[in-house]
Amino acid sequence: MKIIKTIAAVKKETRKLKGKTFGFVPTMGCLHQGHLSLMEQSLRENDVTVVSIFVNPTQFAPNEDLDSYPRDLKKDEKSLKELGVDILFFPDVKEIYPGGYSTYVQVEELYKVLCGKSRPTHFRGVTTVVLKLFNIVAPDNAYFGSKDAQQAVIIKKMALDLNLDVTIKALPIVRDTDGLALSSRNTYLSGPQREAALCLPKALRKAEELIAAGLEDAAQIKTEIVKELQQSKLVEIDYVEIVSLNSLKTYERSEGTMDIDVNNTLVAAAVKLGKTRLIDNFILGEI
Ligand code: PAF
Repeated sequence: MKIIKTIAAVKKETRKLKGKTFGFVPTMGCLHQGHLSLMEQSLRENDVTVVSIFVNPTQFAPNEDLDSYPRDLKKDEKSLKELGVDILFFPDVKEIYPGGYSTYVQVEELYKVLCGKSRPTHFRGVTTVVLKLFNIVAPDNAYFGSKDAQQAVIIKKMALDLNLDVTIKALPIVRDTDGLALSSRNTYLSGPQREAALCLPKALRKAEELIAAGLEDAAQIKTEIVKELQQSKLVEIDYVEIVSLNSLKTYERSEGTMDIDVNNTLVAAAVKLGKTRLIDNFILGEI
């Protein structure tokens, strides 16, 4: 595996391999099986797989965990080598945002809802860095986890709106054996918080079962999820939202009903345990 720190060297390396298909997995490191599943898919579908590790400062608000965000480069390098990843791009902050940097990309409307309500500058940082990384790596396919469903929807819209020559693939959430969605931020949780966090996948699983059994009213589904999340005193609800998958618009009551489209719906929740914010969801349809 080649480890590359500069944009010029990545461009040189990838252009040298012109004619081959490129898969790209952007990450912020501290890799877990969720990330690795994206890389495995890329390795199956492309000639060359590029992974980036870059803890992107522009997607963190000043009060967020940029400095404490978990980093473990040695372990990540080992996992990537074992998997057979071809290129690791590991730039420093000045390489991506040199002094005087001033250009940002924002997908309007979609950034404001769900996680965007409590993190209003987050998706602007994500789309900016992802577009820059796409321009640097020039991938044919790029892989994102569905745990960050809003992120995947926004990036897909950016690729469509800006006519990018990259196919965005959103792969299923990978969960721990107890059901908690894998996340680098799970490492922040204390034992009791980790235990309490399980009400998140449990609430969503219950909602999924109710929908499978025929419940389609968005308000009722939301009530069931909230009820389940309120079981734990350690859990503070940030949001529970049921939205149309690609527009991220909430269902409005019309003619007495508020029925979801069972082929195009995102059921998403975010909770806080102490300072740690966790998200989870399930998707009816495809991003
Ligand atoms: O999902 C992430 O880890 C980040 O948001 C991403 C896509 C690597 C951009 O920094």
